[in-house]
Amino acid sequence: MATPPPFLYSIPILIVLFLCQSSAIQQPSTNGARYLGNFLSSSKTLPLVVKSKAPKYEYETKYFQQKLDHFSFADLPSFPQRYLINTQHWVGPSRLGPIFLYCGNEGDIEWFAANTGFVWEIAPRFGAMVIFPEHRYYGESMPYGSKEEAYKNATTLSYLTAEQALADYAVLITELKRSLSAQACPVVLFGGSYGGMLAAWMRLKYPHISIGALASSAPILQFEDLVPPETFYNIVSNDFRRESMSCFKTIKESWDVMNTVGQKNGGLAQLTKTFHLCRKLESVDALSNWLESAYSYLAMANYPYPTDFLMPLPGSPIKEVCRKIDSLPDDASVLQRIFEGIDVYYNYTGTVDCFNLDDDPHGMSGWDWQACTEMVMPMASNKTTSMFPEFYYDPKSNEEQCLKDFHVKPRPTWITTEFGGHAFKSVLKAFGSNIIFSNGLLDPWSGGSVLEDVSETIVALTTEKGAHHLDLRAATAEDPDWLVEQRSSEIKLIRGWLDKYYDEKKATFSM
Ligand SMILES: *[C@@H]1O[C@H](CO)[C@@H](O)[C@H](O)[C@H]1NC(C)=O
Ligand SMILES: *[C@@H]1O[C@H](CO)[C@@H](O)[C@H](O)[C@H]1NC(C)=O
Ligand SMILES: *[C@@H]1O[C@H](CO)[C@@H](O)[C@H](O)[C@H]1NC(C)=O
Repeated sequence: MATPPPFLYSIPILIVLFLCQSSAIQQPSTNGARYLGNFLSSSKTLPLVVKSKAPKYEYETKYFQQKLDHFSFADLPSFPQRYLINTQHWVGPSRLGPIFLYCGNEGDIEWFAANTGFVWEIAPRFGAMVIFPEHRYYGESMPYGSKEEAYKNATTLSYLTAEQALADYAVLITELKRSLSAQACPVVLFGGSYGGMLAAWMRLKYPHISIGALASSAPILQFEDLVPPETFYNIVSNDFRRESMSCFKTIKESWDVMNTVGQKNGGLAQLTKTFHLCRKLESVDALSNWLESAYSYLAMANYPYPTDFLMPLPGSPIKEVCRKIDSLPDDASVLQRIFEGIDVYYNYTGTVDCFNLDDDPHGMSGWDWQACTEMVMPMASNKTTSMFPEFYYDPKSNEEQCLKDFHVKPRPTWITTEFGGHAFKSVLKAFGSNIIFSNGLLDPWSGGSVLEDVSETIVALTTEKGAHHLDLRAATAEDPDWLVEQRSSEIKLIRGWLDKYYDEKKATFSM
């Protein structure tokens, strides 16, 4: 057979790609969020991930050899991508058994598997296979043979992008289906936080790969100017205010008090003592950052029952922190109150001898790289509405910090160019389908997510009292009704996508 001239192939493909990219989704917004330990102080990035040691589910651990760069034909070394898989309940290819794929986010995939009980629990009811692929550059899925090599410099890190990760998932699932003769089996995507962003983006960028996506607590609008940069800290602040106005006020006052004390002779030593720190405080900023990060995590993990994420916490932990802050005798100082409150977060088990501000046990430097390249989420704190010290989003200093840390310059408009965001609703309404954006409104990330239905098939499920991807967690006896209802709505929608897919398949066969 004669080979057609290349333009016959390339022109239509280019047009399709162009249409997908330009009209599929357009939504710009800006804001970066996440931070951890020391990084917080400089760049005000916030953690999207919440780590936990939850019950284990059964799966096999496998590895798939991935291309380092899906978007060039350079001869680069491949790397093993880890994935967790369970086919125990899968009804198989002949019955078009569904495949539930969790889009791994910025951490060890086993944490996410352990924290995503919802997927494991519903899979048997759908006769579904479950697969949790790991995000490249996290956990065991390291290019260049080791984390040390992979994280060496800006050149070796340059393949750590959301686009490459999505391509990994697309290639993996396509190959896996082929090897199982399961090409016709429908794939449903799941994801929480950044994983939820990936699930939503994957549904939009690769509409042929999955039939729908559940994107939980996915702040896909937290970029550029799509939402105000104050959004995140305003929500954290409101979470405290709704528990107690005096608690909110005490925290708001505390920053100035700390600064005043810190400037006095022997002030840093005094703060070191008040806050039971292991080593002498070097600056008030270090203490402020440590406190700010605790308040932000508390808002993310403000779950109705006790959990063990980043830290073991009581149910409704903000209520507990505020109860401590408010319950000291009238003559207690502001700093004493703050200390008692923060003890709930950093020392709930009562086993910590002293606090170490530099602790970064969760080592998420990969996200710091992502925040310095694509995931530029502007953050600010409004003097009037926030309980945090006032600060502005400063792209220039962010850029300087990234050049210093990684020798890389952020591209704040890239995500909205690549995945859209501007005119998000009208674009998605015309172009997309079958996405659930679920959010708990106590979660500070909810402000950058989709909180209103976009169309009949792109829907928002919000709960007033939910926190960061609570719906993806395993069911518990303490689950409030609104959570049970949220999950059952999700199950119904997923069931609907599958029924429609099967109906269409049948119609095609009988034609
Ligand atoms: C990064 O490290 C690799 C591997 O050691 C090396 O080949 C490359 O030149 C380095 N790039 C930069 C920009 O330092
Ligand atoms: C942690 O809690 C225990 C029990 O309340 C207390 O004895 C200890 O001093 C606390 N640790 C710190 C660092 O405050
Ligand atoms: C801070 O919030 C107040 C009250 O909502 C608003 O009037 C003001 O413009 C905000 N300031 C900034 C810098 O956004």
